[in-house]
Amino acid sequence: MRAFPEGFLWGTATSSHQVEGNNDNNQWALWEQLPGRIWQGQKAGRACDWWRNAERDFDLMVQLHQNAHRLSIEWSRVEPEAGQFDAQALARYRTMIAGLRERGIRPMVTLHHFTEPLWFWRQGSWRHPQALARFRRYVERVVDVLGDLVDLWCTVNEPVVYAALGYLIGRFPPGQHHPVRGFQVLRQLVLAHATAYHTIHERRPGAQVGLAKSLFIFAPWRPHRPLDVLMTTLVRYLYNQLVLDAVHDGHLRPPLGWDTQPYPGLAHTADFIGINYYGRTMVAFSPRHLRTFFIHEFTHPAGETTDITATGEPYSEVYPQGLYELVRWVWQRYRKPIYVTENGLPDEDDDQRPRFIVRHLAALHRAWQEGADVRGYFHWTLVDNFEWADGWKLRFGLVALNPETQDRTPRPSAHVYARICQTNGIPDDLWTQYGVNTDATA
Ligand code: FCB
Repeated sequence: MRAFPEGFLWGTATSSHQVEGNNDNNQWALWEQLPGRIWQGQKAGRACDWWRNAERDFDLMVQLHQNAHRLSIEWSRVEPEAGQFDAQALARYRTMIAGLRERGIRPMVTLHHFTEPLWFWRQGSWRHPQALARFRRYVERVVDVLGDLVDLWCTVNEPVVYAALGYLIGRFPPGQHHPVRGFQVLRQLVLAHATAYHTIHERRPGAQVGLAKSLFIFAPWRPHRPLDVLMTTLVRYLYNQLVLDAVHDGHLRPPLGWDTQPYPGLAHTADFIGINYYGRTMVAFSPRHLRTFFIHEFTHPAGETTDITATGEPYSEVYPQGLYELVRWVWQRYRKPIYVTENGLPDEDDDQRPRFIVRHLAALHRAWQEGADVRGYFHWTLVDNFEWADGWKLRFGLVALNPETQDRTPRPSAHVYARICQTNGIPDDLWTQYGVNTDATA
């Protein structure tokens, strides 16, 4: 069998807004009210009902042999008004996190996973001069209350996705096309990460603090065309590299910044790197794609694709060997411990997910065998949840959810993943059934 290192973390990942239910005090609640923003006008509603009863799903994690879980804290619950902290909300998070630990599930806690309190949002979000100080105040409080229960922290989830979808593509709030602003916001998120890094370490010197970085495989559509290659290089730089380089050596490179000196306090602010990996994207130069600087991104028409998003396109191309390539790249470039903080696919009928899991984990295993310090894998996600602008259309869960009745039905892949978690590796029979005759991951 393909055995993973001892103490490897096996879990799933979630975020507050997507699972808790009734989060009506953040910018996504506002976004939900606007016509045309979310698929079929759907609402998060009760979501997976975690605020009332996350423990039901914690029990499910135990049944499925998981030993870790990545979840996020909802800033708008903890600090509903500027400077006013809600002791009850913090107590609820304490109960939840203690509940995970009692069940033998190690928590990894994310501090910012796309959502922000309405007061913060309405005052300009990250563009407000006090934004970083405000974030620091929130992080201080969270770490003061939860720090003894948590030793793995993710500061910010997918800063590039937040900035690009909000300020370039417009699918996320505030729905703008304002690239300059997008890079300002991205810069702020990088600095917010560093602020949180130091805030946590001042209080908890032994904690491991990193961020969750979305990485894609970008490949030129026509490799013989210099412009396709150029665009691919540009996207790799802007999307995959810029933020990780910044937290590694402290340099805010263009267009994040223009200084030749590193930004104070930014270098070496990742004890680990979290990789969120969802597949491969083809890149072509296209004069028609003015709004994205002539970059046209799409999934390979001959590739294996996932379920379709609200925009009518597949969510992504399934490309397991990309996980191997990216883990190797991150390891060679940054030499930091690595967690796969998200990896998954929308696949409602679960005819792809078992193979997806086995093949991605084989790719991860190979990267580990070749020397990368890989420490854990968090599948996105446990139970179907509210998928942002795609509403309930995309089903990422190992377990199917009926949001009305809150009934849960494990999909076959839940059991496949459970066997891997239980054996701390990929048993040969699973490999034979789901892994072979595929790509370079073998
Ligand atoms: C990631 C997000 C996560 C979830 C998955 C499917 O980009 O971090 O919240 O939406 O995609």
